[in-house]
Amino acid sequence: MDVIRTPDEMQQWSDSVRSLGEKIAFVPTMGFLHEGHLTLMREGRRRAGVLVASIFVNPTQFGPAEDFACYPRDFERDCAMMEAVGVDAVFAPEPSAMYAPDSQTWVEVTGVTKGLCGPLRPGHFRGVTTVVAKLFNIVKPHIALFGEKDFQQLRAIQRMVADLNFDIEIVPVPIVREKDGLAMSSRNAYLSPDQRQQALALSLALRAARDRYHAGPCCVEELVSVAKCVLRRTPGVEIEYIEAVDAGTLERTSSLDHPILLAIAARVGKTRLIDNTVLKP
Ligand code: PAF
Repeated sequence: MDVIRTPDEMQQWSDSVRSLGEKIAFVPTMGFLHEGHLTLMREGRRRAGVLVASIFVNPTQFGPAEDFACYPRDFERDCAMMEAVGVDAVFAPEPSAMYAPDSQTWVEVTGVTKGLCGPLRPGHFRGVTTVVAKLFNIVKPHIALFGEKDFQQLRAIQRMVADLNFDIEIVPVPIVREKDGLAMSSRNAYLSPDQRQQALALSLALRAARDRYHAGPCCVEELVSVAKCVLRRTPGVEIEYIEAVDAGTLERTSSLDHPILLAIAARVGKTRLIDNTVLKP
């Protein structure tokens, strides 16, 4: 596996691969890999002859009070995991190689970032779409894979790719869960054993709402309130939001005759967790 540290070197690497007629699949990550990332990588490996991953804890998507400095990092462990799933090259730049001190350009998707996590993490999605646009220009992939756990991020990237005519296919990959239902996340590493148990309330709440949805006619408010009940009876879980929105536009909706995204953000201790499920008629 090649380890590439600068945008120039990465662009040259991709140019030479492309000149051989190879298809490049790309999985951008912030490292501290888990089975969710590896699932994206295996899917990329299946879909293309060449697989590139990036590891870059992107400073521009963290707010001043967020966990950028202490975000978990373990590059050696990540490299061993990537080698095992057949990554051909990892792009792992320093922040100074990605952002010039005088850089002035942002990529901002306005609509799908308005609700859900948008108002609670000002600047977050702008940081994500800016770095992903840069990574796309640096890695030059044909396809890029993103997990549905960060559903709003996925929608923002799909919107950016459509609006800016990136010639890249975005492949969504379903959430990967632990055996007991907890959605995999690098931030799960922050949880103590007790908090790990409390965090299960998110997936249980979604499952309860999903069961209610499939049990017979109901309304959006009832689904939200079923999920809220499960979260509220779990000590240590502080709800940031539970919302049901149109799964395409991410706008609030009261209709259940099209796919609905039921999304939760909650804090367990200091750790902010998100989870979601898509309900399809
Ligand atoms: O989902 C992530 O890990 C990050 O938001 C991404 C897409 C790698 C951009 O920094």
